[in-house]
Amino acid sequence: MNIQNKVVYQIYPKSFYDTNGDGLGDLPGITAKLDYLKELGVDLLWLTPFFVSPQNDNGYDVADYCAVDPRFGTMEDVDTLIRTAKTRGIGLMFDMVFNHTSTEHAWFKRALAGDPDYMDYYIWRDGTPDAPPTNWESKFGGNAWEYVPALGKYYLHLFDVTQADLNWENPRVREELKNVIRFWKAKGVEGFRFDVVNLISKPEVFEDDHEGDGRRFYTDGRHVHEFLKELTRDTGIDTMMTVGEMSSTSLENCIRYSNPAEKELSMVFSFHHLKIDYKGGVKWALQKPDIMALKKLFAVWQEGMAAGGGWNAVFWCNHDQPRVVSRFGDDERYPKESAKMLGACIHLMRGTPYIYQGEELGMTNAQYTDIAQYKDVESLNYYKILLNEGKSKEEALHILSVRSRDNSRTPMQWSAAANAGFTSGTPWLTPPANFNTINTEAEFVDADSVFRFYQKLIRLRKEQPIIQKGDIFFLERENASVVAYERAYAGRKLRVYCNFRAANVPLMEDSLAALTDEGWSKLIGNYDGLAVDLRPYEVVALEK
Ligand code: GLC
Ligand code: CA
Repeated sequence: MNIQNKVVYQIYPKSFYDTNGDGLGDLPGITAKLDYLKELGVDLLWLTPFFVSPQNDNGYDVADYCAVDPRFGTMEDVDTLIRTAKTRGIGLMFDMVFNHTSTEHAWFKRALAGDPDYMDYYIWRDGTPDAPPTNWESKFGGNAWEYVPALGKYYLHLFDVTQADLNWENPRVREELKNVIRFWKAKGVEGFRFDVVNLISKPEVFEDDHEGDGRRFYTDGRHVHEFLKELTRDTGIDTMMTVGEMSSTSLENCIRYSNPAEKELSMVFSFHHLKIDYKGGVKWALQKPDIMALKKLFAVWQEGMAAGGGWNAVFWCNHDQPRVVSRFGDDERYPKESAKMLGACIHLMRGTPYIYQGEELGMTNAQYTDIAQYKDVESLNYYKILLNEGKSKEEALHILSVRSRDNSRTPMQWSAAANAGFTSGTPWLTPPANFNTINTEAEFVDADSVFRFYQKLIRLRKEQPIIQKGDIFFLERENASVVAYERAYAGRKLRVYCNFRAANVPLMEDSLAALTDEGWSKLIGNYDGLAVDLRPYEVVALEK
């Protein structure tokens, strides 16, 4: 599959559209909205997990990889969705959560019952109740090992205690997971997203980490490239669209994961650019976004992946990240301008853009003020941890309002009707009050809406080989307010200037007026015409 001209749209089924009034989005709800997605112009839909699951981590705790959770619908609904999407030229990508299973999975239950074959599906270490095998921390807080008294052993869980890490060293585990891929492939999906897939290969020896939380021992682990090559080869997915979620990864590894010659994956998600507002690298410590750091990261990753023949998934938002317009834009004073600027910044880069549901409307953070409004396991865990660290309730709630994953999980805003037109029942998460103005109906009739701008960005990618294939080189490297880059392809050039400030900002290397004198003309922007300086959150792309 040509991945360079594609745009992927991520759907969080639980929050997309509810057709039966139970307050949860469902698979028929996605089928019902395919015309909307067609109108937007996206090529593929990545669905986060809808498989059988106790939903402790909203489906990332899978209890049966090849069955549909009744909350979301039936296998027939999946077939209908795949078939109906195809008639509109839209493909499906399913989410493969292969680092761990739910502790409700039949494999884990057999392991718990002491069956040695199934115990070897997971990672166990001997121990006593008071002494976990290592000091590694779970990504959701607390120690990463859980003691099972009946077995006198601990199992590893890098995420929630109900998400037990699989033992990829066991060839039987790898065969089981290949069968899952074969199953969904036979149903006609066109791609896969692999959850935290760079964590699957654990070290030979498990030891305490005296420098960090343990991640350096299992991130981009010793056999990860072999495992991915084997998985891809044995399931024949090298011609499909595949993307791996890479946690705390490195450029060198991402080149290997995504360089076509390696036959591992089509592309990777990396997250370094989404930590520029983590104080001291800590998610729960707030700081203003460091735009200089953002620019440097983009330059390193965009230019570096191009040099090494790798390919990035480019994105700001997903179901784990706060809304970008609230985060790096200004959702009060410049909601439209900043949402458009952020969209263009990513979409004109080298890589395959991913849009997370509602991003194309400029949807904002949840604006919750009460802990009872939150549902996410990570948010609830960290609320307790922050209070234990001595933060006041107000401080802890403020941190959650900025960082919680629930910020992105509020219902899709379809209209100004009750519950944003998402459900006729009670939504599982409350939408923010701004659905009155930020919704698909309002944006359809507004030619200047964020939706119409995203539609144009998608169309431009399809029309312009330079956006798909051009080289990339960063400009304005010393300018602490502006992200700017030049694309070049077949004698043509494209320059993109993005102002990340709520103020007028001059360019350092050029003036926009001088550029027009030199024959550059405007391809797209979020303000009329051109001014001498970049206006608040202005983006302008010039071509020559
Ligand atoms: C990924 C998912 C996230 C989930 C975690 C554990 O980061 O995107 O939602 O909690 O993996 O599966
Ligand atoms: Ca429903």
